[in-house]
Amino acid sequence: MPGASTPSRYSSSAPTKTAASVLVLAAAEGSVLGLDSAKSARTSLETMMAAIGFTSRTGATARIPSPKGFAADSILLVGLGSFDPASSGPESESANAEVLRRAAGNALRQLDGVDQIAVALPTTTPGDVEAVTVGADLGAYRFLDYISDDGDKAPGAVTVLGPRGKAFVSAHATGATLAAATNRARDFVNTPPLDLYPETFAELVRDQAKAAKVKVTVLAEKELEAGGYGGILGVGQGSTRGPRLVKVEYAPKGAKRHLSFVGKGITFDSGGLSLKPAANMEDMKSDMSGAAAVAQAVFAIAELELPVRATAWLPLAENMPGSSAIRPSDVLRMRSGKTVEVTNTDAEGRLVLADALADADAEDPDLLVDVATLTGAQVVALGNRTSGVMGAETARTAVTEAAERAGEEMWAMPIPEEMLSGFDSNAADIKNSGPRQGGMLAAAAFLREFVGEETAWAHIDIAGPSFNTASAFGYTPVGGTGAAVRTLVELARNAD
Ligand code: BES
Ligand code: MN
Ligand code: ZN
Repeated sequence: MPGASTPSRYSSSAPTKTAASVLVLAAAEGSVLGLDSAKSARTSLETMMAAIGFTSRTGATARIPSPKGFAADSILLVGLGSFDPASSGPESESANAEVLRRAAGNALRQLDGVDQIAVALPTTTPGDVEAVTVGADLGAYRFLDYISDDGDKAPGAVTVLGPRGKAFVSAHATGATLAAATNRARDFVNTPPLDLYPETFAELVRDQAKAAKVKVTVLAEKELEAGGYGGILGVGQGSTRGPRLVKVEYAPKGAKRHLSFVGKGITFDSGGLSLKPAANMEDMKSDMSGAAAVAQAVFAIAELELPVRATAWLPLAENMPGSSAIRPSDVLRMRSGKTVEVTNTDAEGRLVLADALADADAEDPDLLVDVATLTGAQVVALGNRTSGVMGAETARTAVTEAAERAGEEMWAMPIPEEMLSGFDSNAADIKNSGPRQGGMLAAAAFLREFVGEETAWAHIDIAGPSFNTASAFGYTPVGGTGAAVRTLVELARNAD
């Protein structure tokens, strides 16, 4: 697969003494940060900054030749607004971390074709170094696998500069792992569905597992039939490329807690016979973003050797209107034994998730989280950058708090009690498409029917945040974003 961009390195050499084509420095309220031990270099730079009218506004950048006193050829200034590295308390800690991630990302998005880049944002704690690393490595991401002339279209070698010491080196490594996992999820999302379909998706995960401490199991059509996975099979049967169910397991010795993740893996969502309109149908290559996120989260948890058991379930299918496709009015017998009347073949995500949720739930995990590009209604309710989180209160809170620390925007939403009756069917136990109003919440009500009442379950709808069709911002590119990967890993970091 897809070679994601190379991760950054770490060095504690002084910013002024670091040779580079570009040295990235931050400014807040007219002062350059992180140059306290190089007063004269700092003063010359601040004079130049004033001369060009650099405002330090959040998101502002300017690239200028280095004044005397710097070993680097040029300097890229990034504005941090009124950032105060000294402010403390857990809330400002996570806010500051996000300022650093975005600043580093903004910088790296502008440095195509630059080979030696040194990033010297203000870092005093290991958490700061982790944040800068995540932002830099995510901002350096480019997807060039299908671009014939890819020269000078990406940044070259990146070094993150920060304090000396083991804790900082290890924070950099953690940040690099988080970013690499997110970037790998982006690669999966960006790969066209001609090349990425259930079988190839499963093969890529299997290949990745060869170099990791995880076990991968793939169920193909025969096994899915034997196991009664009516949801996955039903959605997949309109495509010539059959469905799969992939299980990715990391089970370190002595683990006390078990986190289980389920990710929607529709490698292309045409809508099936309930065909989608042509406009923007191309975005539906991203309908496997949940599956990519949960798989990469487990690989990252394994790479970080976190002391928790983590399992990812990936129900993979291509939703196509082929002549063997399911029809509106068909009834599927699901893995759990429930029957579902299909009234809209475009409500396919909940069908594949239902089967995987039933299996995940049967293992009785301590926390069960599903991640899915499930509804257009998510975008209507919360916009393109904020995911909706529904489910059992404890699980939902664990997810939104982890998201806050990880720097992902997620918001708790209810499952109102009247939602479920909208799925009443005369032909089966339940139908698959319910009320249009509150569609995101309705979809959650459907999913809940396939999870035990006692299970600490949360559902994250990432329909908007998983795929950026507007412009790049901070460390987020156009296309696949890798949404939810960092939040899932954060849940595992906090689990013991
Ligand atoms: N994959 C779509 C949801 C989606 C829409 C994701 C836009 C990203 C951007 C999902 O399978 C779908 O089609 N949902 C329907 C459900 C409806 C038929 C009940 C929707 O949201 O319209
Ligand atoms: Mn659909
Ligand atoms: Zn879909």
